[in-house]
Amino acid sequence: MHRHRGTAVIVLTTLLLYHDTTALKASDLFHICNRNDPQLNNCVKEAIEQLRPKLKSGIPQLKMPSVDPMFIPKVRLVQGSGPVSIDSTFTDIYVTGITNFDIKQVTVDLDNYRVDLQMALPYLYLNSDYTIQGRILALPISGSGDSWSNYTVVTGTGSLIGHKESRDGKDYMKLDQFKFSVDVAHADIHLNNLFNGNKELGDAMNRFMRSNWEAVFKEMKPVVDEAITSILTDIARKVFDRFSLAELFPVG
Ligand SMILES: *[C@@H]1O[C@H](CO)[C@@H](O)[C@H](O)[C@H]1NC(C)=O
Repeated sequence: MHRHRGTAVIVLTTLLLYHDTTALKASDLFHICNRNDPQLNNCVKEAIEQLRPKLKSGIPQLKMPSVDPMFIPKVRLVQGSGPVSIDSTFTDIYVTGITNFDIKQVTVDLDNYRVDLQMALPYLYLNSDYTIQGRILALPISGSGDSWSNYTVVTGTGSLIGHKESRDGKDYMKLDQFKFSVDVAHADIHLNNLFNGNKELGDAMNRFMRSNWEAVFKEMKPVVDEAITSILTDIARKVFDRFSLAELFPVG
């Protein structure tokens, strides 16, 4: 019984999707660059810059959510040993600022299904709920509440890595990963309501983390990178699964 109902829902959804997007062309959404353009890297850089407002609003035709703020449901950070040994969970994370990117470099290598980019971001601001327990540089920390952090003068390095997939006589870039890594010049990290709301202890811990932000960020970075990578991979897949390479990068 349930199986039948499930099938009906899937068929209906497919029909609706088909109806929604069947006429959608890549050129309706993106500035299109010729594959043989000798200035292909620059053209793609401009195309990404022109995409900025759409990255902010999301692209409903592709069911693509906004990346600014970017919503990350949950990140768990468990660090068993070392200077920062904590068990922490951050939920309902909103990351603001990614569309203030200033693209420094784009390298498009369509033969190898790879695009590398480097960008500078004035800041990335995160707020979320958290729970934490453990030690930071020998000091015990515990609590739960809301938190914010501001990472300033951020460098973002991204690589879209894929491989060829042929479907219905067309070649697509099947995206394996949109790997993203951030480096920061400074981080302000603040956890509200530490130690069951004990203000004196909480303020002291926040001051302590402010002076030792490098050690804290170093431990958090792999998890932050991975969370952003997974969101960006999902989003970029929506573009590369939908449009063939001949449509995105026509041979002019
Ligand atoms: C984060 O830092 C940047 C750069 O210093 C600043 O412009 C911005 O206002 C800060 N954001 C918040 C919400 O504090």
